[in-house]
Amino acid sequence: MSDQMPLKTHRARFDNVSLSFDTPKGRLQVVDNVSYDINDGDFVAVIGPSGCGKTTMMSMLAGFMKPTTGRVLFDGAPVKGPGPERGVIFQEYGVFPWLTVRENIAFGLGLQANREMAAERDAVCDHYLSMMGLTDFAGAFPKHLSGGMRQRLAIARAYAVKPQFLLMDEPFGALDAQTRSNMQNLLLEVLHSEKKTVMLITHSVEEAIYMASRIVVVTARPARIKQIIEVPFAYPREESIQERPEYGELRSHIRDLVMSEYRAQQAQTARASFSE
Ligand SMILES: Nc1ncnc2c1ncn2[C@@H]1O[C@H](COP(=O)(O)OP(=O)(O)OP(=O)(O)O)[C@@H](O)[C@H]1O
Ligand SMILES: [Mg+2]
Repeated sequence: MSDQMPLKTHRARFDNVSLSFDTPKGRLQVVDNVSYDINDGDFVAVIGPSGCGKTTMMSMLAGFMKPTTGRVLFDGAPVKGPGPERGVIFQEYGVFPWLTVRENIAFGLGLQANREMAAERDAVCDHYLSMMGLTDFAGAFPKHLSGGMRQRLAIARAYAVKPQFLLMDEPFGALDAQTRSNMQNLLLEVLHSEKKTVMLITHSVEEAIYMASRIVVVTARPARIKQIIEVPFAYPREESIQERPEYGELRSHIRDLVMSEYRAQQAQTARASFSE
């Protein structure tokens, strides 16, 4: 980086990170020598084929897994475990089945120390219940919700704690197209009013371009960096960016990159099942 570039503080850094699992069939290399930074205020989307190692990569930053070699840093220090400044939305919902919808949202806000704090907590719950369209289900248990509603509950729970850094693993994957689009716009609004840094895993090229400031395309397993692409559109994003010629070019470029890695991943899976 040249001296003229504005200084950006990195919040997260993957520094030559590799991870392999010991499995009954031997070592499985899942992440291979990955290095990139996520700076304060960045919105980084990670895209790559199924099973390539995206969730594993995010889990190291969330503090649930440790790299085999290399370092994952958060605010300059190696990640030792989960922390309240990093809010995680898991790929499989991550809601507590034994708590009601309201209790799930309230969970991360802590116990009520006094009446004032309890009132504040209730107000925060009401706000996010309404934002996610769950007000009428505040007293319901997750098993009585649809998949999409559970997903919205997981999002509400993560937003309510107001973490500075959101780690989102395909948060909108289980939603219908209309709700998905609403949730994308809501997230952009939340980011606009409460400055945050985001790492989002997605399979959707369109979602990545619409939301992210930078897109990290990763290879078939083991996940390596294929290309890092700066998204040239300013915030606040308008859906009309889709009509711009640069949008079409960017989308084709990323689709080509992703498709070649999907094919590589499929070939790998086919080889593995052939050798069984
Ligand atoms: N704890 C584990 N032990 C052994 N292998 C694992 C473990 N966790 C994940 N894997 C393997 O690591 C690889 C990458 O998994 P990961 O969940 O990171 O993929 P992904 O890119 O998130 O895929 P998807 O897009 O389908 O969610 C897979 O082959 C998976 O089977
Ligand atoms: Mg995953």
